[in-house]
Amino acid sequence: MLKNVSLPSFRDELPADEHFELIEEANSRVDAFTRNRRDTIHNFVVSDFELVGAAIRWLVENRLACGESFLEWGSGFGVVTMLAAIEGMDAVGIEVEQDLIDQSRRLADDFDIDAEFVEGSFLPEDRSIIESIIHDFENVDIDSPSAYERLGKSIDEFDLIFAFPWPGEQQYFAAIFDQFAADGALLLTYDGRNQLRLQRRE
Ligand SMILES: C[S@@+](CC[C@H](N)C(=O)[O-])C[C@H]1O[C@@H](n2cnc3c(N)ncnc32)[C@H](O)[C@@H]1O
Repeated sequence: MLKNVSLPSFRDELPADEHFELIEEANSRVDAFTRNRRDTIHNFVVSDFELVGAAIRWLVENRLACGESFLEWGSGFGVVTMLAAIEGMDAVGIEVEQDLIDQSRRLADDFDIDAEFVEGSFLPEDRSIIESIIHDFENVDIDSPSAYERLGKSIDEFDLIFAFPWPGEQQYFAAIFDQFAADGALLLTYDGRNQLRLQRRE
């Protein structure tokens, strides 16, 4: 079962000094990447990194997670994973698009950030018990092979998972999290309209 955990409003907060430069550079690389790429990656849009970064900083400062293991489901340009690493978490991003994995690794290297990026699907290998859920996805790749074997870790080994689901798909992310995450684990989601949601599995 998932329980909502209330979050403060981070609206008027300025980004932490440690986040600022990364976010500036990431936003300009995302713009250039989107402009110059011949084929659009349809499922790719980026979160409000300042807002999500402030929430992760607050979660770490207040020790809300049971441990330090962070995972981003569909990590895009990898920025949220990098912000979690800056906050001291052991951070991994899973992303299905190789070009985005390449961009993430390059950005992390340029900023000397210790974050790991694994190509593949954030969905588990055995999808039989979530078949009815995943067939409702319109903006998630449900065919690519799972990344967990390559990563050497499973969903229940992560203390905090972040995702930016497309509108109307948060409930499916929550259902998968509820099915596979560990007791006490946290799911943080951004909804594209400046709203964050935090849920704990109990
Ligand atoms: C809405 S974007 C969010 C990107 C990033 N998390 C952020 O907040 O800026 C969703 C990302 O999930 C990726 N994606 C879609 N289906 C996936 C899957 N099954 N496994 C891993 N990544 C997936 C897309 O390629 C896209 O980069």
